[in-house]
Amino acid sequence: MYRKTFTALLVAGLALSSSGLPAEAGNKPTDNPSAHAFDNKVIKKINVDNMYNNIAKLSAQPREAGTEGEYNAVQYIKSQFEQLGYETELQPFTFPEWDGGDSSILLNDQVFDGGVHTFSGSVNGNVTAPLVYVGLGSTEEVSNDVEGKIALIERGSYSFYDKIQHVLDKGAVGVIMFNGDGNTGYQFGSAYEGQDIPAVAISREDGLKLVNRLENENVTATVNVENAGNVDKTSYNVIAKKKPHPNKDTGQITMIGAHHDSVHGGPGANDDASGVSAVLELARIMAKTPTDTELRFVTFGAEEKGLVGSYHYASTLSEEEVEKTVAHFQLDMIGSRDAGDLIMFTPDGEKNLVTDFGAAAGARISEVVEYGQLGRSDHVPFFERGIPAALFIHAPLEPWYHSPDDTLDKISKEKLQEVAEIVGAAVYQIARPDTPALENARVAPGPVDYEYDDRPL
Ligand code: BES
Ligand code: ZN
Repeated sequence: MYRKTFTALLVAGLALSSSGLPAEAGNKPTDNPSAHAFDNKVIKKINVDNMYNNIAKLSAQPREAGTEGEYNAVQYIKSQFEQLGYETELQPFTFPEWDGGDSSILLNDQVFDGGVHTFSGSVNGNVTAPLVYVGLGSTEEVSNDVEGKIALIERGSYSFYDKIQHVLDKGAVGVIMFNGDGNTGYQFGSAYEGQDIPAVAISREDGLKLVNRLENENVTATVNVENAGNVDKTSYNVIAKKKPHPNKDTGQITMIGAHHDSVHGGPGANDDASGVSAVLELARIMAKTPTDTELRFVTFGAEEKGLVGSYHYASTLSEEEVEKTVAHFQLDMIGSRDAGDLIMFTPDGEKNLVTDFGAAAGARISEVVEYGQLGRSDHVPFFERGIPAALFIHAPLEPWYHSPDDTLDKISKEKLQEVAEIVGAAVYQIARPDTPALENARVAPGPVDYEYDDRPL
C-alpha cells in the first residue's frame, strides 16, 4: 500500500520532465523560486549555530565506544531529543575489545626496564628460551635455527601476520617485535587466530640495543603475557521516533542517522559530531512539523569498532519495519572546511531513492550532488537489509581524519548549513503530507540527472 503511494510520487515526478530536469526548472534549478519555496519550510529553520554549539559540546572530549566519554555524549544526545519532545530510547549492545593484560620481559634473568606492550591478538603464556634476531622476519631471514627460541623481529616490509607465521613455522616459542624506522608508539598490527605464541612489542630504541647486545653475548629471554584477551564493552544507540500525523500516515518510515562515537583519543569534531549535530537540528525542526511518514533519528555507537551499533540496530528491525523503511540518510563527516565537495555513497555504487532525492534537493539548493561507491559507515547494515541507504560525506577527506586534530576550529558553518539543507529538504520531500500531490511542479519538484564520480578519498 505505502509502496504504491511512494512509487506514485516518483512516477509523478518523472512525468514532469523529459530531460530529467523538472519542466519548470529548465535552466539552473536554483534559479527556480517556486522550487526553492518548496523547501523553505525546512531550510529556513536551520540554525547552524545550534549545530556548531553541539559539535563544540560533543568534541570537548573523546567519545571512544565503551568509554565514559561516549556515555556522556549518549546522555547529552538523549537529553536533547527529550527536550524536543521525542520519545527516546537508549539501546545498549556489547562488542569485544582487546585488552593486552600484563606483559613483561626478562633478559638473562634481569627485568627488562623498557616499555613492553602485549601484541594485539597474542595468547597468554610464559616462555623462556634463547633470543635470536631474525631481521624483518622474511622467509629468507628466518632459518631453522629459530626452533625452540624467541624471535626478535623488526617491524616493516611484511605484514605482522607473515612475520609471526614465518617464525612460528620454524618452531619459535615467542616473539619480541620492535618498531621499524619511522614507527612510533605501540600501535602494532595484530597476531591472528592460530598464531598461538606469546608476542610482545617494544620501542625501536630498545630493539636496536638488543640487536647490538646479541652481537656480543648470548641472551636468554623470558616473554610473559598474562590476562590478555577480549573483554565485552557496552556501547549504545540513541533512538528518537516521531510518529506521523494519524490521519495522514502512509505507513512509511524514514531514518536519519549519524555515529556519535569517535576514535580512541580523538575529539571527532567532524567524525562524526558534525553528523550528530545535523541529526539533532533536523530533529528539532521536524518536531513541530506534521509529516505523513514516521521519522527515526538515530545516533549509533561503536561505528569506529566496525559499524557495531548500526549492525545491532538493523538486526533488531522486524521484516515489517524493513518493508516500511523507504530511506536511510547517513550523515558522517559533513562539516570539515578542509574537505572537498559533498558526495553520496552507496555500498553498491548504484543510485537509489535516497540519492535521487538528495541529488534533486542539492540541485534546488546549491548544486546537483554526485554519487559514488563506498561502504565504511552506518548506511551499510541498512543497505544489506534491502533499505535504500546512502552516506552523505565530503570527499576528498580532510588531512585530520582520525587524528587528534579533528577539532572544532576546522569546522565550516557553510558546509554544515549546506548539508543540513540538502538532507533536510530531501527528507521533507518524503515526509511532507502534501506529497504525493504532484500534478503541480510548483508543489513537487521532479528528479534531476546526476553523475557517478570515482572521486578519491
Ligand atoms: N567517517 C568514517 C567513514 C569514512 C572514512 C568514509 C573514510 C570515507 C572515507 C568512519 O567513521 C570510519 O572511519 N569508518 C571505518 C569503518 C570501519 C571501522 C568498519 C573506516 O573506514 O576505517
Ligand atoms: Zn565516521
